[in-house]
Amino acid sequence: MKITTVKLVYRSFVVRDPASRNLLAEIICGLIDPTVKFSEFGRLYLEDAGFLEYYRSRVGTDHYHSLDRKFALDQLAKLAIRIEGDTAECGVYEGASSYLICKRIQGSSKRHFLFDSFAGLSAPNAIDGKHWRENDLAIPEDVVRRNLREFDFVEFLPGWIPTRFQEVAERRFSFVHIDVDLHDPTLQSVEFFYERMNPGGILICDDYGFSTCPGAKQAMDEFFAKRPEPIVHLPTGQGVVFKQ
Ligand SMILES: C[S@@+](CC[C@H](N)C(=O)[O-])C[C@H]1O[C@@H](n2cnc3c(N)ncnc32)[C@H](O)[C@@H]1O
Repeated sequence: MKITTVKLVYRSFVVRDPASRNLLAEIICGLIDPTVKFSEFGRLYLEDAGFLEYYRSRVGTDHYHSLDRKFALDQLAKLAIRIEGDTAECGVYEGASSYLICKRIQGSSKRHFLFDSFAGLSAPNAIDGKHWRENDLAIPEDVVRRNLREFDFVEFLPGWIPTRFQEVAERRFSFVHIDVDLHDPTLQSVEFFYERMNPGGILICDDYGFSTCPGAKQAMDEFFAKRPEPIVHLPTGQGVVFKQ
């Protein structure tokens, strides 16, 4: 054992220095899986008690896999209130992301529209790879209604995307969250909402930067290749577009 490692173990367990413990964990994880890359120690959002409480109660307690994405979404949703237009989510699951969006627009005159089959994913294409299967992530509509019951400005439009989109065709949007994992419903969502977004409006594709969702990335790249806005690829995996 190198002297530096001994020092690190001493600082981790005797001195109880959190930064040393984190570095030691990084070294051990690196030995098990060399592809793991820790981010900087000391990021304040990881200590945000209110946000951690939201995550544990709305997403789960067994892992923190989407903590960074949920935090980024919540921060971006702060901007929605400054832009005219309603908000929407395509692909709702248990409503944890919609909950954050609703909290940010509560008290305004905005409405929040939810589009989901409530029967899970549609059938993947070849471009979607092998990670997802039809009907994965199915969740009953009444569970989601219960999760979002404190918001009287939420409108549920259950059905396969894009069948219910025409019901909001006359509306304008400030903030749209697309999270359907697959190529076709991602493309259909962005095709419909992009032209209805007000300038400065924010469109987020939750699945953009994931090797498990190649079809969603292809749909976004295909669509925005012919548009002036760049897709901002966040390290969380989200692809964000600010409408010009
Ligand atoms: C990853 S989950 C959404 C997670 C949610 N946005 C969150 O942050 O908790 C994907 C959702 O997309 C829905 N979905 C997938 N394909 C769909 C389609 N073609 N039409 C309607 N809903 C679809 C599924 O039912 C599922 O609820």
